Amino acid sequence: MVLVAKHIEPPIQQRAIEAASQILGSSDPICALRELVARVAPTELAVVIAGETGTGKELVAKALHQGSARTNGRFVAINCGAIPETLVEEELFGHERGAFTGAIATKVGRIVLADRGTLFLDEVADLPPSAQVKLLRVLEERIVEPVGSTRPIRVDVRIVSASHKNLEQEVAKGRFRDDLYYRLRGIRLRVPPLRERGDDILLLAKRFLELGADSYGRSAPSLSPALEATLKTLPWRGNVRELRNEMEKAVVLGGFHDLIGESVEPSLPLLMENLSPVVRTVVRALHGTQNGLSAQELTEHLEREHGTGNTSSRVQDARSALARFGLAISDARRAGRYVLVRRTSQ
Ligand SMILES: Nc1ncnc2c1ncn2[C@@H]1O[C@H](COP(=O)(O)OP(=O)(O)O)[C@@H](O)[C@H]1O
Ligand SMILES: [Mg+2]
Repeated sequence: MVLVAKHIEPPIQQRAIEAASQILGSSDPICALRELVARVAPTELAVVIAGETGTGKELVAKALHQGSARTNGRFVAINCGAIPETLVEEELFGHERGAFTGAIATKVGRIVLADRGTLFLDEVADLPPSAQVKLLRVLEERIVEPVGSTRPIRVDVRIVSASHKNLEQEVAKGRFRDDLYYRLRGIRLRVPPLRERGDDILLLAKRFLELGADSYGRSAPSLSPALEATLKTLPWRGNVRELRNEMEKAVVLGGFHDLIGESVEPSLPLLMENLSPVVRTVVRALHGTQNGLSAQELTEHLEREHGTGNTSSRVQDARSALARFGLAISDARRAGRYVLVRRTSQ
């Protein structure tokens, strides 16, 4: 098995570095990832990319292709989770005309399309067992047999796979074949979630604002320090994809109202974890309040929770702490209602 080219030509190495530079960010985990991508791209190593949804797995897969000698061949992607089980095999391996009812024409499988290029198996954990067996055979023998065909086709593909699921766990649970896993995993790359990338959140936000401004022919709204702090606190379950959407939306709407308003609410329980005790107290104190809450009532709540003390300075603390998250007391009130609704519906 030839895994790594013995000698990588300098122009190809240069191309790999350029390809990897599409992965933006200057946090430690991203710098390390970019370096690995540049190193691995020009080789024939099979790569498994792990990472939550929206972290940039497909971006990494494309960089691996573009940074290799296979860049003149095709980058063919297949989302194994999005195609019905019954169709996955014909998509991957193709079929002959008349192979089964409905096969009115010959279909070229994606593995064959990726000949001399890269095949990207997205959400590979979702590949049905029978397709796993067939894929393993293709990888071992380097030939594809389309459904209903007796003529095998020789192929030369490099496989890059990705999954948001933990593949090792899928293997341990017997849902993914271990022999196939070890075939796919020449090397494993992990793309970190956005919330582990520190100031990259701001770097990416600014880049997406610029891109959005360019594509919509509008000027981008600027980020206030309070909003920057909010962006760094949000959990970003949808990772870079979610950030990109939020920034594009802000360009379209001409501001971030949406981000600091409604879309903050679903993340509030998580946001709560990062709040200082005093802000948590405020949010908790606001639970039972359906209507507006006066400063007096808020003070009384705080007084009850904390006993006596200088409550007005606590309220002041709460206000400035909330402001650091780009929230006003009115947001905390709405937040409190959200938490209440969640609690009562659980
Ligand atoms: N480090 C990054 N630098 C620039 N753009 C990124 C980065 N990571 C992700 N993106 C962008 O975020 C979006 C989602 O990335 P994608 O590769 O589709 O994620 P995944 O495949 O992990 O769900 C794409 O528009 C992609 O270009
Ligand atoms: Mg994807």
